[in-house]
Amino acid sequence: MQKKQFKQGTKFYLFIILGILWICILTGLMVLQNIPPEIKDDPTLKIFSWIQRDTNNQEPITPLPNPNDLDPDKVELGFKLFTDPILSHDNSVACTNCHDLQNGGADHVKVSLGINHAVGHRNTPTVFNSGFNYRQFWDGRVSTLEEQIDGPVLNPLEMGSSWDEVLTKLNASKYYVEHFQRIYDSKKVTVENVRDVISTFERSLVMANSRFDKWLKGDSNALSTRQKEGYKLFKSYGCSSCHQGVNVGGNMFERIGVFRDYYKDYPKNASDMGRFDITGLEDSRHEFKVPSLRNVALTKPYFHDGSVETLHDAIKLMAKYQLGVKLSDSEIETIEDFLNSLVGETPKVLK
Ligand code: HEC
Ligand code: HEC
Repeated sequence: MQKKQFKQGTKFYLFIILGILWICILTGLMVLQNIPPEIKDDPTLKIFSWIQRDTNNQEPITPLPNPNDLDPDKVELGFKLFTDPILSHDNSVACTNCHDLQNGGADHVKVSLGINHAVGHRNTPTVFNSGFNYRQFWDGRVSTLEEQIDGPVLNPLEMGSSWDEVLTKLNASKYYVEHFQRIYDSKKVTVENVRDVISTFERSLVMANSRFDKWLKGDSNALSTRQKEGYKLFKSYGCSSCHQGVNVGGNMFERIGVFRDYYKDYPKNASDMGRFDITGLEDSRHEFKVPSLRNVALTKPYFHDGSVETLHDAIKLMAKYQLGVKLSDSEIETIEDFLNSLVGETPKVLK
């Protein structure tokens, strides 16, 4: 009788111990899955090779995919149109005038110049990786690259043309009529087809395989120690709460001045109302699309008005106004070094 009771008691305790062990193993697994990659890089942890897997979805940034399934004829014709001033009223300005494809996809002046040297209102954003932004333009007034094209073509300060004028010119060109006919079953060049080829070309402008993306995919040597440190600071200070996702930005609207009134300190920069002009809502006054930082190292000057000359100063201002912290020069340089690692390879179409 006593022996039986003893046996039952042992079974009971064994059951409890096994249960506790099982809970410990499950918790351990969960903790290990959440270890940031910089710790996973530790050689002593490398023996658990499976920890390396499934890391990307824990990070606020995901690698850029390589573009595929794009019709190569559309890409080529879109490329030709992107570089052809025929889209502007007096045949003097092409998309590349402001979006220099050899130079980060932007123009490196405070605000851009259009036809007749007209001075624009805003700084030119890069056209690289722009297909991954959830809206286009600083104020996000359109959603797709197709819709975006009307902006520069019709803007009197940029190309100053009209679709009637553009189509008349394109339909008078043997080259364009023939090339469009090869792709579309239509005797005439149409607005839809012009938008389609240009946006297809833009979708091929992906700067993938940056050092940072290689590291995200598991190559622990792709980043220098300082770049890894910069990424840690970028996350721990909270930059990644706004600059995040596949484009390290481009997926929300925010205004400068979360912790300090930027427009009180820089009243001259307050004239552009940003998203307010689109929504009419008080909440969106001075809100702009959070820009992608993917190739920010190549696109000075910075901010929607080009008011900041260097990346160093842009990072410093961001920390002060968006996060309420004063970074040391060495912290700023470390974050800058991480931002350099986001620059990807030249897209195949430009090689
Ligand atoms: C005169 C200079 C100029 C020309 C020419 C020009 N752009 Fe732009 N582009 C800009 C500026 C400035 C903006 C930002 C405007 C704004 O946000 O209101 C912009 C924005 C864009 C964007 C949105 C990017 C983003 O992240 O929001 C795309 C895409 C783009 N342009 C493509 C083109 C294409 C295609 C052409 C030719 C049909 C073209 N641009 C011609 C200056 C120019
Ligand atoms: C609350 C959201 C938010 C946070 C947090 C934030 N940013 Fe920004 N960032 C923005 C917005 C919005 C802009 C565009 C501002 C403008 O043009 O007026 C911007 C612009 C920038 C630019 C200029 C990009 C360009 O192409 O002009 C850089 C560089 C930048 N941020 C880096 C950082 C860094 C580094 C941190 C952390 C220290 C940070 N940001 C934190 C919202 C944020």
